[in-house]
Amino acid sequence: MNVAIIGTGYVGTVTGACFAELGHTVVCVDIDRSKVDLINAGIPPIHEPGLSELLEKHARNGLRATVAYNDAIPCSDLTFICVGTPSDKDGRIDLSIVRRASESIGDALKLANRDSHHVVVVKSTVVPGTTDEVVAPIIREKSGDASTVGIAMNPEFLREGKAVYDFMNPDKIVIGGDSRARDTVARLYKKISCEITLTDTRTAEMIKYANNSFLATKISFANEIGNICKRLGIDVYEVMSAVGKDFRISEHFLNAGAGFGGSCFPKDVKALIGRARELGYDPLLLNATIRVNEEQPMRMIELLADRIQEIRGRRIAVLGLAFKNETDDIREARSIPVIGELLNRGATVAAYDPLATENMRKVFPDVLYCDSAKDALAGADACLIMTEWAEFGSLDQEFEEMLNVVVIDGRRMVSLDSDRGVYEGICW
Ligand SMILES: NC(=O)c1ccc[n+]([C@@H]2O[C@H](COP(=O)([O-])OP(=O)(O)OC[C@H]3O[C@@H](n4cnc5c(N)ncnc54)[C@H](O)[C@@H]3O)[C@@H](O)[C@H]2O)c1
Repeated sequence: MNVAIIGTGYVGTVTGACFAELGHTVVCVDIDRSKVDLINAGIPPIHEPGLSELLEKHARNGLRATVAYNDAIPCSDLTFICVGTPSDKDGRIDLSIVRRASESIGDALKLANRDSHHVVVVKSTVVPGTTDEVVAPIIREKSGDASTVGIAMNPEFLREGKAVYDFMNPDKIVIGGDSRARDTVARLYKKISCEITLTDTRTAEMIKYANNSFLATKISFANEIGNICKRLGIDVYEVMSAVGKDFRISEHFLNAGAGFGGSCFPKDVKALIGRARELGYDPLLLNATIRVNEEQPMRMIELLADRIQEIRGRRIAVLGLAFKNETDDIREARSIPVIGELLNRGATVAAYDPLATENMRKVFPDVLYCDSAKDALAGADACLIMTEWAEFGSLDQEFEEMLNVVVIDGRRMVSLDSDRGVYEGICW
């Protein structure tokens, strides 16, 4: 099938590359010409394991990119909206990018003068009602021919850092819409062996929010239990390892630590809270999920202050900037409030991350960015571990480079005997 993908960020690029791998012909559209040029050169605009191999294989050979909607939509059977849905200043969903993309798709459909059926699919995460009440009316009005345009909603559940694997090996595929639109979308996934949930668009939209809100709540729950365990001198990892053996709970997302970040959990939970409040319901549990998460990074600072007393004038090594390992994405990374607070309190921050340095440099130009963990640790008064990069697990002699060995671990990456220095886990 011929597929247009609107937006070549994490979701759009992975979706385009994976559809090409499944044998479809793909045209990606982005307003950012630098991303378009990279994709056409077979280079991913973002870091994701396995993505460069797919782009190398398919770029200009089943997959191309363009800045022109008119160059992509007329030759496609389906168009996927994969643009960002950020939070507005009150935490509610900001649909302005989705609206603009929908207008451009509608305009391109009108100009295309088609007589075949075309399905516009919302893959961006949008609050329930958006596909039917915002996207569909714009597309229908702008295209001028409702009879040949179908609308569907197909939420994406991939994890950054494992996005290509997850897309090709999903545990669920959800498609919302009327039966004709849903069947067209389902045909795209024919080669993937996975049960497809067929439903209406509002339910498809809600499944995505319920999914992310549950996972975020599970993490905040583990962190809350961890904060209590810390005060009781109990190892929360031993507790959660046993708790996770209950099949009703499962072992995943029970690792207590510095909290969740990324482009999805914080904004999606806030968007659902915002939508619920608009409907007259203040969601108690979701509010608490966010509050626990926002306080968690500050616990790293409290532990640090307890251990070194004065933060001003000290050199603090921050290991890990990305919101999780295997990605260069720093959106809502827990390292951001931590570095912000360290700088506020007058520390010198020496940071290291295998992939995310250039992204973080735009947020904090005054941080000293290092090429290795060892360089960041050299001469440091203390070290904070903020991301679960595997390489931090094998740090050992590098700690000897520190002025004082004080390690505050937000991700349970290190074990350090007490005769070698101070080691504090955030929740253990
Ligand atoms: N990142 C994830 O792990 C993930 C997972 C599941 C779902 N989602 C959802 O998918 C959506 C996209 O997320 P993302 O992380 O890929 O976003 P992103 O910010 O990485 O990418 C969005 C892309 O859209 C482009 N864009 C903006 N306006 C455009 C326009 N008018 N026309 C064409 N392109 C335009 C931007 O230049 C950018 O390249 C969001 O709704 C997000 O919540 C993300």
